[in-house]
Amino acid sequence: MNNNTNNSNSNDWQVICRVEDIPVLGARRVARPVGVDVAVFRNAEDQVFALLDRCPHKGGPLSQGIVFGTSVACPLHNWAIGLDDGCAKSPDEGCTPRFAVKVEDGQVMMNVVELKTHALDLAPPRAGPGAATADKLGDESFDVQAPHGS
Ligand code: FES
Repeated sequence: MNNNTNNSNSNDWQVICRVEDIPVLGARRVARPVGVDVAVFRNAEDQVFALLDRCPHKGGPLSQGIVFGTSVACPLHNWAIGLDDGCAKSPDEGCTPRFAVKVEDGQVMMNVVELKTHALDLAPPRAGPGAATADKLGDESFDVQAPHGS
Protein backbone atom coordinates (compact mmCIF):
# COMPACT_ATOMS: atom_id res chain seq x y z
CA MET A 1 0.00 0.00 0.00
CA ASN A 2 1.13 3.51 -0.70
CA ASN A 3 -0.36 6.14 1.53
CA ASN A 4 1.56 8.98 -0.06
CA THR A 5 -0.85 11.48 -1.58
CA ASN A 6 1.78 13.70 -3.19
CA ASN A 7 1.67 13.96 -6.98
CA SER A 8 5.00 12.32 -7.60
CA ASN A 9 7.63 10.58 -5.57
CA SER A 10 10.77 8.96 -6.90
CA ASN A 11 9.62 5.70 -5.29
CA ASP A 12 6.48 5.81 -7.41
CA TRP A 13 8.40 5.16 -10.64
CA GLN A 14 8.75 1.56 -11.69
CA VAL A 15 10.63 0.02 -14.58
CA ILE A 16 8.14 -1.41 -17.06
CA CYS A 17 10.48 -2.69 -19.76
CA ARG A 18 13.40 -1.61 -21.90
CA VAL A 19 12.91 0.68 -24.89
CA GLU A 20 13.97 -2.12 -27.24
CA ASP A 21 11.22 -4.33 -25.80
CA ILE A 22 8.71 -2.07 -27.56
CA PRO A 23 8.52 -2.62 -31.34
CA VAL A 24 9.64 0.39 -33.38
CA LEU A 25 6.48 2.14 -34.66
CA GLY A 26 4.43 -0.12 -32.42
CA ALA A 27 3.36 -0.56 -28.83
CA ARG A 28 3.08 -2.85 -25.87
CA ARG A 29 0.30 -2.95 -23.34
CA VAL A 30 0.67 -2.49 -19.61
CA ALA A 31 -2.08 -4.27 -17.70
CA ARG A 32 -3.34 -2.43 -14.63
CA PRO A 33 -4.89 -3.67 -11.39
CA VAL A 34 -8.15 -2.01 -12.43
CA GLY A 35 -9.18 -0.22 -15.58
CA VAL A 36 -8.31 -0.24 -19.24
CA ASP A 37 -4.73 -1.20 -20.16
CA VAL A 38 -2.17 1.45 -20.98
CA ALA A 39 -0.43 1.39 -24.37
CA VAL A 40 3.27 2.29 -24.41
CA PHE A 41 4.43 3.39 -27.86
CA ARG A 42 7.84 3.78 -29.48
CA ASN A 43 8.40 5.92 -32.54
CA ALA A 44 11.17 5.97 -35.13
CA GLU A 45 13.26 8.33 -32.97
CA ASP A 46 12.97 5.97 -29.97
CA GLN A 47 10.69 8.40 -28.18
CA VAL A 48 8.32 6.64 -25.81
CA PHE A 49 4.74 7.69 -25.05
CA ALA A 50 1.92 6.24 -22.98
CA LEU A 51 -1.83 6.56 -23.55
CA LEU A 52 -4.87 4.72 -22.34
CA ASP A 53 -5.34 1.85 -24.81
CA ARG A 54 -8.68 3.20 -25.90
CA CYS A 55 -9.34 5.37 -28.92
CA PRO A 56 -11.42 8.49 -28.18
CA HIS A 57 -13.62 7.64 -31.16
CA LYS A 58 -15.16 4.24 -30.40
CA GLY A 59 -12.68 2.67 -28.03
CA GLY A 60 -10.38 0.97 -30.55
CA PRO A 61 -7.18 -0.58 -29.16
CA LEU A 62 -4.54 2.04 -29.97
CA SER A 63 -1.80 -0.46 -29.06
CA GLN A 64 -2.69 -2.30 -32.28
CA GLY A 65 -2.17 0.81 -34.39
CA ILE A 66 0.79 1.96 -36.45
CA VAL A 67 2.93 4.79 -35.12
CA PHE A 68 3.98 7.56 -37.50
CA GLY A 69 5.85 10.65 -36.36
CA THR A 70 4.37 11.47 -32.97
CA SER A 71 0.95 9.98 -33.75
CA VAL A 72 -0.68 6.59 -33.91
CA ALA A 73 -3.27 5.52 -36.48
CA CYS A 74 -6.18 3.77 -34.77
CA PRO A 75 -6.62 0.29 -36.28
CA LEU A 76 -10.41 0.55 -36.40
CA HIS A 77 -11.19 3.71 -38.40
CA ASN A 78 -7.74 5.19 -38.94
CA TRP A 79 -8.09 8.30 -36.82
CA ALA A 80 -4.69 9.84 -36.06
CA ILE A 81 -4.16 10.26 -32.32
CA GLY A 82 -1.35 12.46 -31.03
CA LEU A 83 0.99 10.50 -28.80
CA ASP A 84 2.12 13.60 -26.95
CA ASP A 85 -1.35 14.91 -26.08
CA GLY A 86 -3.66 11.94 -26.65
CA CYS A 87 -5.92 14.03 -28.88
CA ALA A 88 -7.38 13.23 -32.28
CA LYS A 89 -6.00 15.25 -35.17
CA SER A 90 -8.41 17.68 -36.85
CA PRO A 91 -11.06 17.35 -38.18
CA ASP A 92 -11.64 14.50 -35.72
CA GLU A 93 -12.22 15.39 -32.09
CA GLY A 94 -11.66 13.85 -28.69
CA CYS A 95 -8.77 12.86 -26.45
CA THR A 96 -7.67 9.76 -24.63
CA PRO A 97 -5.90 10.07 -21.25
CA ARG A 98 -2.11 10.34 -21.25
CA PHE A 99 0.20 8.69 -18.75
CA ALA A 100 3.58 9.87 -17.54
CA VAL A 101 6.49 7.88 -18.88
CA LYS A 102 10.24 8.44 -18.76
CA VAL A 103 13.30 6.68 -20.06
CA GLU A 104 16.45 6.32 -17.99
CA ASP A 105 19.43 4.30 -19.22
CA GLY A 106 17.22 2.66 -21.84
CA GLN A 107 14.65 1.62 -19.26
CA VAL A 108 11.04 2.70 -19.61
CA MET A 109 9.57 3.84 -16.31
CA MET A 110 6.00 4.66 -15.36
CA ASN A 111 4.41 6.10 -12.25
CA VAL A 112 2.72 3.25 -10.39
CA VAL A 113 0.42 5.55 -8.45
CA GLU A 114 -0.84 7.05 -11.69
CA LEU A 115 -1.24 3.59 -13.23
CA LYS A 116 -3.42 2.52 -10.31
CA THR A 117 -5.54 5.67 -10.10
CA HIS A 118 -5.73 7.49 -13.46
CA ALA A 119 -8.64 7.16 -15.91
CA LEU A 120 -10.37 4.31 -14.13
CA ASP A 121 -13.79 5.59 -15.13
CA LEU A 122 -13.52 4.73 -18.82
CA ALA A 123 -15.05 1.42 -19.81
CA PRO A 124 -13.03 -1.04 -21.86
CA PRO A 125 -14.02 -1.60 -25.48
CA ARG A 126 -16.80 -4.13 -25.86
CA ALA A 127 -15.08 -5.99 -28.70
CA GLY A 128 -11.66 -6.50 -30.17
CA PRO A 129 -8.33 -7.15 -28.47
CA GLY A 130 -8.84 -4.42 -25.86
CA ALA A 131 -11.93 -6.17 -24.59
CA ALA A 132 -9.67 -8.67 -22.84
CA THR A 133 -8.96 -5.95 -20.30
CA ALA A 134 -12.18 -6.82 -18.51
CA ASP A 135 -10.75 -10.23 -17.67
CA LYS A 136 -7.94 -8.62 -15.72
CA LEU A 137 -10.07 -6.59 -13.34
CA GLY A 138 -8.94 -7.30 -9.81
CA ASP A 139 -5.47 -8.44 -10.87
CA GLU A 140 -3.04 -6.82 -8.44
CA SER A 141 -0.03 -6.97 -10.75
CA PHE A 142 0.76 -5.31 -14.02
CA ASP A 143 3.21 -6.26 -16.67
CA VAL A 144 4.13 -5.71 -20.27
CA GLN A 145 2.32 -7.74 -22.86
CA ALA A 146 2.81 -8.31 -26.55
CA PRO A 147 0.24 -6.30 -28.49
CA HIS A 148 -1.17 -9.26 -30.37
CA GLY A 149 -1.11 -11.78 -27.54
CA SER A 150 -0.33 -15.39 -28.26
S1 FES B 1 -12.27 3.58 -32.80
FE1 FES B 1 -10.44 4.58 -33.32
S2 FES B 1 -10.86 5.58 -35.18
FE2 FES B 1 -12.73 4.64 -34.62
